[in-house]
Amino acid sequence: MRHFVIVGILVIVTAILTYVGLDSVGLLPVEASAQAVSIDWLWNWQVVAISFLFSLIVVPMAYSLVVFRRRKGDTTDAEHIEGNTTLEIAWTVVPLIIVVIFAYMGAYSLGEIKRVDPDAVIIKVKAQQFQWTFEYPEYGIISTELHLPVNQQVVLKMEAVDVIHSFWVPEFRIKQDVVPGRVTEYRVTPNLVGLYKVRCAELCGSGHAVMEGLVVVSEEANYEKWLAEQQAIAAAAQTPEGQGKLLVVKNGCGGCHSITSTPLPSAPTWFGLFGSNVELADGSTVVADDAFLTESIVDPTAKEVKGFSPSTMPPYVLTEEEVANIIAYIKTLK
Ligand code: CUA
Repeated sequence: MRHFVIVGILVIVTAILTYVGLDSVGLLPVEASAQAVSIDWLWNWQVVAISFLFSLIVVPMAYSLVVFRRRKGDTTDAEHIEGNTTLEIAWTVVPLIIVVIFAYMGAYSLGEIKRVDPDAVIIKVKAQQFQWTFEYPEYGIISTELHLPVNQQVVLKMEAVDVIHSFWVPEFRIKQDVVPGRVTEYRVTPNLVGLYKVRCAELCGSGHAVMEGLVVVSEEANYEKWLAEQQAIAAAAQTPEGQGKLLVVKNGCGGCHSITSTPLPSAPTWFGLFGSNVELADGSTVVADDAFLTESIVDPTAKEVKGFSPSTMPPYVLTEEEVANIIAYIKTLK
């Protein structure tokens, strides 16, 4: 009996210390959505259960190793135990009750996360190797940044162009796959103004690690201001290079092609590209003129650039004017 009391106290103390230790590590980033509240509540109870189960196994084991070890000169056998019906029923029924309680908590939490606000803001999301693109259909805006109003539910209608990607903002806690050929939904109510990052959480190719996008959660007034600015930019972009820049955003070209002197891993940079000499995979050299760039857009494997062969770029179906506009934009990058 004395051993049971000592082990019982040690189990409780170790469980509390384990919980406090795990809690203080700060495993989760800041909580920035209404959905995160119920997820973190459930997670917290899981950590409580994990801490208790850990000490329930480790403490009696360590205690037995020390207290009931074989002493020098002791050659007797241990006491033979046939079984214990009460104990067996207890260790079946108690975990069963705990599992049922957690199932209920999980279902409750899921219900909270899936709660639909009929006035949710609709934003279309396009995922492709290796870029996130966001479209605000009500405003005719396309952006590579996701701007969201605080304390308002948004529903992202997500589509993938090529392979499976996964939309993940750790601070929002929720994660949703984006699958070619269907539209998946992601509902979130951001409740903390700030800058976050959407990451791709599904290995999708050579640029997977850099498939990130900026997420800006702002007050309603700032959000409206950004929408108005974007509408003005779209309206002002009537020049060929302005149109080209919009096409580049819309088609996600920036996911692979950098516009600075530092190239991304999966494709050549566009910075200083026009008019430069380009070394090809077969050893020859071409001048990056209108003809070469046009061919590279509509038939990317015709002439593959050294260091980026075999090409992973899909051929783009664009009108002659659209291709010319994109090249006009590329010409401005120097
Ligand atoms: Cu897209 Cu990983």
